[in-house]
Amino acid sequence: MRDSRETIGPRAFVAGYPIKHSRSPLIHGHWLATYGIAGSYEKIAVTPSDFPDFIATLKTSASPYHGGNVTIPHKEAACLLADRADPLAEELGAANTLWREEGRLHAMNTDGIGFLANLDARQPGWDRAQRAVVLGAGGASRAVLQALRDRGIAEIHVVNRTLERARELAHRFGAPIEAHGMDSLASLIDGAGLFVNTSSLGMDGSEAPLLPFEQMKSDALVTDIVYVPLKTPFLRQAEEAGLNTVDGLGMLLHQAAPGFEKWFGRMPEVTEELRNLVLADI
Ligand code: ATR
Repeated sequence: MRDSRETIGPRAFVAGYPIKHSRSPLIHGHWLATYGIAGSYEKIAVTPSDFPDFIATLKTSASPYHGGNVTIPHKEAACLLADRADPLAEELGAANTLWREEGRLHAMNTDGIGFLANLDARQPGWDRAQRAVVLGAGGASRAVLQALRDRGIAEIHVVNRTLERARELAHRFGAPIEAHGMDSLASLIDGAGLFVNTSSLGMDGSEAPLLPFEQMKSDALVTDIVYVPLKTPFLRQAEEAGLNTVDGLGMLLHQAAPGFEKWFGRMPEVTEELRNLVLADI
């Protein structure tokens, strides 16, 4: 009997709990169709208590999957349970991409890669900024801080409502990251070259504070990793102040690309067509 895996090609998944709202199947489905690859990418709901067994099976060829993405709440467990995590994932303590290679389960974290690739694509030269201000200290902030540090930004300030969480990240990632409370935000923005919102402020149409973007450098960039809505209150304020802005949708698209290459053997392109397809679903 033929192995069904041969006939449908490699299979990959996105596992989360809940998983209903993931847009990853749309992205990978588009790439599979564009490149004429016989394969599949499926959403699967895996509860936290089932996750260790799910990973144990994935480590063996009994699993129908080559690998996949994991999302909330499995990113930390994926990093711990894989046989090998890459150095970025190891430092973050979280992974979003898994694949089996030579009988071992590998993990990496592509959030920082996606963040950088999006800015490189949409605003080349953005990394000449000397001072970056990052608002928020949740899971998303970690990957951004790590990426900015590794790109060599000279001064990086993480600002958070709960100062202790910002301090924990500054401690974890080291120089040049410094932690601050919200009361320092306006003065840090004054003269900065980059502002990144990683907090949930402004998400889903919620309120966001007015920030003095007009005091940033005239060639400064403001970006938001939130992409619902696409034009967040921070991006709107920055545009009104005449600054360059980059929305967060590209980070979602670019973070998906390295996994696709691992499972399906081809580095996919992030195109306007793909962007419009996902935009139509937002
Ligand atoms: P994620 O993992 O997606 O980054 P998270 O861990 O829930 O999500 O983090 C959300 C971030 O938005 C946090 O930095 C949070 O600040 P606290 O650490 O003080 O909770 C920030 N945030 C959410 N609502 C906020 C608000 N009303 N004002 C300021 N910051 C807010």
